[in-house]
Amino acid sequence: MRAYLAPLEGITTHVYRNAYHHHFRPLDKYFTPFIVPASKRPLRTRERRDVDPENNKGLPVIPQILTNDAAGFLETAEALEALGYTEVNLNLGCPSGTVTSRGKGAGFLKDPYALDAFLEQIFDGCRLKISLKTRLGWADPEEVWEILNVIDRYPVSEWILHPRVRQEFYRGETHRDIFLEVLKKSRHSLIYNGNLFTAEDIRQICGEAEAVCAGMQEQDHFAGVMSCQDHFAGVMPGRGLIAQPALWSHYCGENVTISQLKDFHDEIYDGYREILSGDDPVIHKMKELWCYMVQGFTESERYEKRFHKLHRRSDYEALVREIFTNEEVSLAGFVPPDGWQIPSKEKHSI
Ligand SMILES: Cc1cc2nc3c(=O)[nH]c(=O)nc-3n(C[C@H](O)[C@H](O)[C@H](O)COP(=O)(O)O)c2cc1C
Repeated sequence: MRAYLAPLEGITTHVYRNAYHHHFRPLDKYFTPFIVPASKRPLRTRERRDVDPENNKGLPVIPQILTNDAAGFLETAEALEALGYTEVNLNLGCPSGTVTSRGKGAGFLKDPYALDAFLEQIFDGCRLKISLKTRLGWADPEEVWEILNVIDRYPVSEWILHPRVRQEFYRGETHRDIFLEVLKKSRHSLIYNGNLFTAEDIRQICGEAEAVCAGMQEQDHFAGVMSCQDHFAGVMPGRGLIAQPALWSHYCGENVTISQLKDFHDEIYDGYREILSGDDPVIHKMKELWCYMVQGFTESERYEKRFHKLHRRSDYEALVREIFTNEEVSLAGFVPPDGWQIPSKEKHSI
């Protein structure tokens, strides 16, 4: 069973991915936040820096592309191939209004015919493996069956499914029952994404998915094409892992200490101080990360308010010192509010 880091724009930068990989049980793949092909160049400066092999040494990184323009996709994929990448991921799940109104991200799921034509062009023209990250549809989870029919026509390397529709954003429970039905019906390798906040959440979906695969194996469903482990290929935690970076290590039975968490923090902090100029953008970046990380501590609300108020580097460092001196790594009882998402207001400088 594999585990991948979900892309979170503004959070899972190369600085974050490296620090995570160095201090916790390494993940099998790290997906970059989405790259939007620009009209004149396949990668913007910030995007190029994020995927630069020099900044991702030894990391299994999968760049993600967000577009509905096949030529733009192919051009960006070619630029990524020149950097040494062998797989790219297509974002078909972003629920943001500015993205979906242009027919991209989850907006593309509204039009399976256009999606089919797009997939035909990119699978024809791209030498790299292409994986997909999708939702179940736009408004009704049952839309997934038409989407499945389209997706099953193409040699998709993996299908990462967030089992909600766009209109649900991140609210409510995920439709795990439908994820399991898709697992029964699709010919592709599937990865589960959504609301994995505790080791028990991971255990539960894995148990259910593996039971489905075992049943399929008994019926000789795979017929030598794919193994059970490849059909349900694993999980992709997002917000739960950012809030509690020890989550996957803990699931794998590893003990994580507070000093490990501190070293992880320090590597990210130093990394941003190296590439951002001045204290303000660094503090801003770190505060954004702490919006998630405070959730892993008992005094989360109090810390949240204090982070919110502070602006000076010395205050930031003092608060972080206090947290790492007084706190323990906790993995229990993290229950995020429904639809839990930290809005990202800044124009990301990295
Ligand atoms: C702030 C934020 C930024 C995100 N950025 C991306 C992105 O760039 N690409 C993407 O495919 N998904 C993005 N997502 C969605 C996550 O990858 C993931 O699918 C979602 O958070 C659900 O998983 P979770 O419940 O484990 O967090 C983002 C989510 C959030 C909250």
